[in-house]
Amino acid sequence: MMPLNEKQIRHHIDIKAFNQPLNFHLLDTIDSTNRFLKDLPPSKAITICCAEAQTQGRGRFGRVWHSPYGENIYFSARWRLEEEVSKLSGLSLVVSLAVLNTLCAEGIMIKWPNDLLWNQKKLSGCLIELLTTTKTETEVIIGIGINVNTKAIAPWCSLFDITGVLHDRNILIGQLIQNLNFHLQQLLTRGFSSFLTQWQNVDALKGQQITISQQERKLTGLAYGVNETGQLILVEANGDRHALSSGDTSLSLF
Ligand code: BTN
Repeated sequence: MMPLNEKQIRHHIDIKAFNQPLNFHLLDTIDSTNRFLKDLPPSKAITICCAEAQTQGRGRFGRVWHSPYGENIYFSARWRLEEEVSKLSGLSLVVSLAVLNTLCAEGIMIKWPNDLLWNQKKLSGCLIELLTTTKTETEVIIGIGINVNTKAIAPWCSLFDITGVLHDRNILIGQLIQNLNFHLQQLLTRGFSSFLTQWQNVDALKGQQITISQQERKLTGLAYGVNETGQLILVEANGDRHALSSGDTSLSLF
């Protein structure tokens, strides 16, 4: 197993493509890489934190993210986006597309808003947290967990399960940072609608019967893809149509 290494990661990044400096915190063991970045003082840089292990890795809706030592990617990036938050719809879907394009293995699909699946098993998840937002700027923490070299047990899987070989995490992290930068720039300049075709090609839910839960209600119906802002379209048996936002919606497949 190659330990996390800043020089190796930087080797796979074209720094000229970035308009902010990149800072790294590569840690051995930490409670959560998202939590670590949240407690840092503000900075103009893009700040990245990765760890060999997390003792309290966090998933969406307060779930736990299993984070064994040295095997996988536990990645967080603190990123300033020059736009108010209302203009950043589709952000979590775009982050998932960046992860998918980094892994470039056949057959990976995305379960809206940001679970990467292979053969219905979960390969990767994202936890995006909003730090600050003004009229001109939004600061987010983008947390990404990718099962890389773990021999995973269903309902999980890893890149190793898909490809049959072990992968160098430093290369993947470099490429992930590079892809995140390109995807976020595209979101800022051209909006989520510029990703729609790509999303449609990897949408794991399209045409499926699904149930979603929000605070007050549960809805069951057919998933009809996403709209121009990345909301999930659900159509109930009675024909009622709903556009659902990712922040407050948890989803289960039938
Ligand atoms: C989910 O699928 O529920 C999201 C999982 C996100 C896990 C990553 S691992 C790195 C970062 N630090 C955390 O505590 N969580 C995210």
